[in-house]
Amino acid sequence: MPRQVGSWTQDKLKILQQYLPAYLAATTKALERIYIDAFAGPGLNRLRGRNLTIDGSPLIALDARARNGTKFDRLLFIERDRAVAAELRGVLKTSDKTQRATVIDGDVNKELPRLITKLHQRSPTFVFVDPEGIEPRWTTIEAIAPWRTELLINFPLGMSINRNPDSDKVTAYFGTDRWRALWNSTRPGRTRALLQLYKERLAELGYRYTTQDDRLVKTSQGRRLYYLVFVSKVAIARRIMTSVLTQPNSTGQIRMPLSRGLPINHR
Ligand SMILES: C[S@@+](CC[C@H](N)C(=O)[O-])C[C@H]1O[C@@H](n2cnc3c(N)ncnc32)[C@H](O)[C@@H]1O
Repeated sequence: MPRQVGSWTQDKLKILQQYLPAYLAATTKALERIYIDAFAGPGLNRLRGRNLTIDGSPLIALDARARNGTKFDRLLFIERDRAVAAELRGVLKTSDKTQRATVIDGDVNKELPRLITKLHQRSPTFVFVDPEGIEPRWTTIEAIAPWRTELLINFPLGMSINRNPDSDKVTAYFGTDRWRALWNSTRPGRTRALLQLYKERLAELGYRYTTQDDRLVKTSQGRRLYYLVFVSKVAIARRIMTSVLTQPNSTGQIRMPLSRGLPINHR
């Protein structure tokens, strides 16, 4: 069964869909290009309240193609829920005629660090990290950092922290307990401060290029859900993603880059 999603999911997927062809064009000269979906889902999404089924991130990546025809050579889809993984395999039977994709059943924190060691360290590898909460541990992100990886991350807002008051999970997510002081502060902008901490930690891993305007995804009622965070080790990637982020979002709104500066390299 396709995943039931709100219309705002289109916003996230549109960014992925617009960025990947440019990524493929920029990496054409490499021997191979790899896509990893760390939280793959079933492959298809059903828009709630509308009789419309849209491609999920695995199918978007499978279809992605640069103007010169370059595609991903290999696509690796990790999914913890066995029924969902089986559904994705079923969808791929018709969509993946060239058999470039592999579905891996299991938890991302176990499978991704294991999987990455089997890839060539110089192969451009795009990793989409799209959890529903704060599942990816920092050690998982650290494990893939030495590879030629570029990341698009769904960074959830405070609710996921509220849901995990035990705090060990939050510390595992940030890889430090520095989040606590930020969380306990009542000043406005707490979420931005947490996001800033996360991005600073990513920069320490070598992901120095990020966009200034992280896309904030909201429900149609205006409830804030998550930020989409993009990080890369190459400057050109930042320029391309910045141009994608200034395209209209799924509601047709044009996004202007924020003028606020971050202490990470944005140039
Ligand atoms: C937000 S959905 C992914 C949607 C997909 N990226 C798309 O756009 O079509 C998150 C998926 O991750 C799976 N998941 C949750 N925790 C996981 C974990 N620890 N490891 C791997 N998959 C997990 C869930 O079963 C769910 O299918």
